[in-house]
Amino acid sequence: MLARSAFNFTRIPAQTAAISASRSKHTLPDLAYDYNALEPVISAEIMQLHHQKHHATYVNNLNTLEEKLAEAVSKGNVKEQIALGPGLRFNGGGHINHAIFWTNLSKDGGEPSAELMAAIKARNS
Ligand SMILES: [Fe+2]
Repeated sequence: MLARSAFNFTRIPAQTAAISASRSKHTLPDLAYDYNALEPVISAEIMQLHHQKHHATYVNNLNTLEEKLAEAVSKGNVKEQIALGPGLRFNGGGHINHAIFWTNLSKDGGEPSAELMAAIKARNS
């Protein structure tokens, strides 16, 4: 069992608040291609929806929730910090997943490597 002095709950929130306050806000990344670059496979309308609506909403919500978290931490409100967890995970995950998604697409297309193609064919046969 840890000694009570191992956890100084009054110091942890202040340290975390200082870290949170120094972070910059999340931003919606620019795409490396135009919205219509993937047509006719993916329409410009769908690309705009996912970028300007979905991804932008995740980024905005994540920034708002991080501000609320910093406030809860500065006030030592652990109950609020815990309550913010699901929203932070959901919106943080949406932001990360979309950021990865954009980099997995290319207007130039291309073929999978021989190894990847073999794995795809093996899985789908
Ligand atoms: Fe999306």
